[in-house]
Amino acid sequence: MRRINPQRVSDTICKEAGRTRPDRRCPGRPPTVSRCIDTDFRQEMAGDVLSGLTGSVKSIPCKYLYDAYGSRLFDRICTLTEYYPTRTEIAILEGNASRIMDFFSGRDGSLVEIGSGSDLKIRSLLRGLSGQGAGQVLYVPVDISETSLLRSAHRLLDDFPWLSIQALVADFTRHIDRLPEGRKLIAFFGGTFGNFTHEQGVALLQGFARIMGGHDRMLLGIDMLKPAGIIEAAYNDRSGVTAEFNRNILKHVNRRLSADFRPDDFEHLAFFNPDREQVEMHLKARSRVRAYIAEVGLSVCLEPEETILTEISRKFSRARATACFDEAGLVPVRWFTDADAWYSLVELAARA
Ligand SMILES: C[S@@+](CC[C@H](N)C(=O)[O-])C[C@H]1O[C@@H](n2cnc3c(N)ncnc32)[C@H](O)[C@@H]1O
Repeated sequence: MRRINPQRVSDTICKEAGRTRPDRRCPGRPPTVSRCIDTDFRQEMAGDVLSGLTGSVKSIPCKYLYDAYGSRLFDRICTLTEYYPTRTEIAILEGNASRIMDFFSGRDGSLVEIGSGSDLKIRSLLRGLSGQGAGQVLYVPVDISETSLLRSAHRLLDDFPWLSIQALVADFTRHIDRLPEGRKLIAFFGGTFGNFTHEQGVALLQGFARIMGGHDRMLLGIDMLKPAGIIEAAYNDRSGVTAEFNRNILKHVNRRLSADFRPDDFEHLAFFNPDREQVEMHLKARSRVRAYIAEVGLSVCLEPEETILTEISRKFSRARATACFDEAGLVPVRWFTDADAWYSLVELAARA
């Protein structure tokens, strides 16, 4: 598959603006969009849902929480008082943006954002670019949710008109080879990394390590261990937005795979599992539930109180995170954290 060449993109833009060298004053154009997900998406979802709901523990992969409505709900979750990760991560970003964005000091490169969602966090980093000293930056947001990706890209261009944006509608577990060639800073925010088991997480990071050159960096957001009450409140907000977000996965399955789940047959259940050091989010059947998924010809039957696992969110100690990085061939260069050490942004380099 062809990778994007950021240098070529920025050169083209600047030539069109009558300049010979890339320059931050050179205005970007409307975002260009590459799609790695299209017709095969429903097929992949069918396979994932079939294997998830016929396994010994019923589950649906959490990436299917994010259709257009799910992405909007997640944006609302990020604004909730109980949901500490977003405001904590933004505070860390704001306090360290210029140090982090030194990466672009006098040098061109790509700022890749994996599972970008809303533009809230990348704004903090873009504001940290020092005016004259920075090279041309190509911003490459990558997300499975096209609506969310495009909405954010357009909003960003309103405020950072000099930015070039190459949006990638992609599954970051499958399409890492579509990331730009050349120097890049890969931001992976929101604790999304914690949605993967240890084995999956290491495999994912190994994929990034493989495509990172010696000067590339990854900025990985991880949620740290803290008292269980604080964690559980974040996934059980009083206004019920997280419950709606959780149940929306069934609406997404209904729509794409012609299924007949009734989301109200399920209760939202989210708790911290101390043995696994992770939050587990489930949908718990209020009574005996039957549903039919026409696209895969599957009848699903759940007993009362039986659950479907929809997401895990791992919480890390430094030691546990470092062990993951080490296994994946990544080395922490700097840790940025808040005063309570509730959250960390870890700058990682590929091991030489
Ligand atoms: C927990 S949200 C984080 C959003 C944002 N980065 C933040 O920090 O607030 C996860 C984001 O990753 C996207 N996502 C989840 N799984 C994905 C996958 N396999 N490939 C691409 N995007 C994915 C979702 O659409 C969503 O925008």
